Amino acid sequence: MHADSWALKAKKLGFRSRAVFKLEEILTKTKALKNNSFVLDIGSAPGGWSELIKAMTPSSHVYAIDLLPMDPINGVMFFQEDIMDIDEIKEISSLKSKFNLVISDLAPNLTGIRAVDEENIFDLNIFTLKAALNYLSKSNGSFIIKTFQNSLLKKLRTEMEKSFHLVQTYKPAASKSKSGEIYLYGEGPL
Ligand SMILES: C[S@@+](CC[C@H](N)C(=O)[O-])C[C@H]1O[C@@H](n2cnc3c(N)ncnc32)[C@H](O)[C@@H]1O
Repeated sequence: MHADSWALKAKKLGFRSRAVFKLEEILTKTKALKNNSFVLDIGSAPGGWSELIKAMTPSSHVYAIDLLPMDPINGVMFFQEDIMDIDEIKEISSLKSKFNLVISDLAPNLTGIRAVDEENIFDLNIFTLKAALNYLSKSNGSFIIKTFQNSLLKKLRTEMEKSFHLVQTYKPAASKSKSGEIYLYGEGPL
């Protein structure tokens, strides 16, 4: 399907972004989302992923963080904060090791200088990975992170492999082939 058709489909179904279909495909394949889960949505605005989690599992407890504001979603606790300050959010930091699923759609601002952008993406991804490991349940935790196909992707995947029993790479159909975005999945924190 063409990228615009995904956007149209999202609008028709009442979702805020076409990013929902990328997450939906990964969740369907991995079966990572269960009823009554604690879910942490990092880089959540405008809110498509949080909406999808609540639509798929209304009993889930969703906590969402973004630098930008986000219109309220029923049953989603939103914090307008930098991910770097996650430990300062007491409602979230009191749930360390309690989350069943951490999803990150974060993307840093790009400078246009390839080497700098690749480093910035890598650093943000590594910070997010470490935060996810802090907040995920050891016995039942999964992590989905958006990243980009670049020279540091292999290094990131290696870090994921050191952190999870199972690691997989996904390129969902709804992700524009030109965009270079790609998703890593980790299951079972080590
Ligand atoms: C692609 S959008 C997320 C789309 C969302 N998953 C959806 O389905 O609606 C990426 C988001 O990451 C946020 N972001 C980037 N850097 C961040 C940071 N350091 N802390 C928190 N959010 C950040 C941006 O503000 C932006 O809203």
